[in-house]
Amino acid sequence: ELDPRLKAITSSIRVVPNFPKPGIMFNDITTLLLKPKVFKDAIDMFVERYKGMHIDAVAGIEARGFIFGPPIALALNAKFVPLRKPKKLPGEVISEKYVLEYGKDCLEMHVGALQAHERVLIIDDLVATGGTLSAAISLIERAGAEVVECACLLGIPKFNDSCKVNGKPVHFLVDCL
Ligand code: PRP
Repeated sequence: ELDPRLKAITSSIRVVPNFPKPGIMFNDITTLLLKPKVFKDAIDMFVERYKGMHIDAVAGIEARGFIFGPPIALALNAKFVPLRKPKKLPGEVISEKYVLEYGKDCLEMHVGALQAHERVLIIDDLVATGGTLSAAISLIERAGAEVVECACLLGIPKFNDSCKVNGKPVHFLVDCL
């Protein structure tokens, strides 16, 4: 049976047509953040899934993984590692390029942020093509750490819990609108 919290999560997300480009239906999670109860329910649902799974680190993808990742990391007693867009991190980095629905980009992570064999949960707001998660997985594996799962608030309906990106499971709470 469906968790009753999911209905409020779905109805708190706003769809903005033709943003940032014509033809893109932008799923805007900022309207969910305006409702503390719903925001907390979403965080709690991730924490309930991953507590007891020995997560050492939560890696959040810029920008919206920086909103959902830190509260999950704190609740799991895990460290938070930001995966940033190019030229934002001041220390030595490893980089991974990827292709997006509306452009190209790159993610960077600080060398030394993860130790070999640490168990990592990747967090973002949304998975569409999986290109961004794929780059995040590569970065973490290049550091010698282990990706346990990728988790997003939203995913496109053709993905489901059996979906994998680069061989890693992707879990999301609700379907993109
Ligand atoms: C969006 C979203 C994911 C990514 C998903 O971010 O927050 O990170 O796209 O798309 P994919 O599964 O096709 O890779 P965006 O690239 O717009 O960056 P931003 O968060 O910095 O705005």
